[in-house]
Amino acid sequence: MDLINNPYSPGAGVPPPELAGRENILRDAENIIKRVRNGHSSQSLILLGLRGVGKTVLLNRIDQIAENLGCETSIFEADMDRTLPQLLTQQLHRLLLKLDRRKRMGDEVQKAFSLLQAFAGVFRVHYGEFQVGVSGSMVTGDLSLDLTDLMVSIGEAAKARNTVAVILVDEVQYIAKNDLGALIMALHKISQRQLPLVFFGAGLPQLAHLAGDAKSYSERLFTYPGVGPLDPEGARAALVEPARRENVEFEKDALDEILNQTEGYPFFLQVWGSHVWRIAEKSPITAVDAVEASKRAEAALDESFFKVRFERLTERQQQYARAMAEFGDAPANSTAVANLLGLTVKQAAPIRDEVIKKGMAFSPKRGLVAFTVPKFDEYMKRAAPTFKPAETKENHNG
Ligand SMILES: Nc1ncnc2c1ncn2[C@@H]1O[C@H](COP(=O)(O)OP(=O)(O)OP(=O)(O)O)[C@@H](O)[C@H]1O
Ligand SMILES: [Mg+2]
Repeated sequence: MDLINNPYSPGAGVPPPELAGRENILRDAENIIKRVRNGHSSQSLILLGLRGVGKTVLLNRIDQIAENLGCETSIFEADMDRTLPQLLTQQLHRLLLKLDRRKRMGDEVQKAFSLLQAFAGVFRVHYGEFQVGVSGSMVTGDLSLDLTDLMVSIGEAAKARNTVAVILVDEVQYIAKNDLGALIMALHKISQRQLPLVFFGAGLPQLAHLAGDAKSYSERLFTYPGVGPLDPEGARAALVEPARRENVEFEKDALDEILNQTEGYPFFLQVWGSHVWRIAEKSPITAVDAVEASKRAEAALDESFFKVRFERLTERQQQYARAMAEFGDAPANSTAVANLLGLTVKQAAPIRDEVIKKGMAFSPKRGLVAFTVPKFDEYMKRAAPTFKPAETKENHNG
């Protein structure tokens, strides 16, 4: 079919042609912002889900909603290599500049700027005009206290400007535990003071434990909507609606094949849609087209999406992942994985933790470990079809 009008959009954070099945989350987010704008307190949302379910897309959409409601927003992504002060300083600076543009009486913004400058100094963040290590009496060097003061001052500045400051952070699971604890403490204070500052986060499923471990009251501060695969109705809409706008239809069997293969995972739906569009010569798209798309989509994913993730693991982490794959897509018992590798639980634990830290796996429950990438177990088995559990190897050697 006409390649130029291929409507599907596989790619990290790329807005889908049809944002299917997420109405509830978007409505909740909008209500939170409106409540806070009206001076009420509200829980923050942290979107939790596996790779490719559409968290970043949702966070971007919430950012848009907030802007349309007249808020000043700051959206950014955490990573493993930067501390929270490093992440926040530049972003909060830009947020304050936006607040400053709303010229009004009062020196709240100025106060927040000064605090931010002192904050950058004491946590040695080198950024633009903050390069100088000014500290001073405004900050203590204790991240929890200083971040709380800083966030409160930003909330007060937003209040004085009659707006809501909205901070959206993606990949929150990469924030280190102590930093996360400080962030939660700051948000707790904001909520107690009913200041117009709202936080939205997104990350991998282990985040709920991480936040709980960092601060026990985090359950009362956040709700964690799960972002999962789309239900069949949503998955059909994600495929059918964009095509319909180009006057292209799907036969029922074609849809069934794609739903079956993708299991409703948004990223996979875009990949399959994009392939089947290229393969089909005319409308309607048939089951034969869909089966061919499955072959090509799987091959393409193996060569890129799965492979890059696999290659980010060291050899021993790859072996750990391969052993996990023996348990299919269900969470594996860490002890059983260790056994397969011929390791004690204690020996295997640091490897498991590395794989988790890299964002490839998470622990849905104590003692269990699962992949964060949907269908990764199947890929591992395609990439390394013969896995010999350690015991068998030993038997051969002995
Ligand atoms: N509701 C949806 N309906 C259809 N397609 C969607 C939907 N949400 C996201 N997508 C598509 O899925 C893909 C992945 O989206 P996104 O990058 O937001 O996922 P993610 O959860 O942030 O993944 P990661 O954890 O890897 O960052 C994109 O191609 C996007 O267009
Ligand atoms: Mg993302």
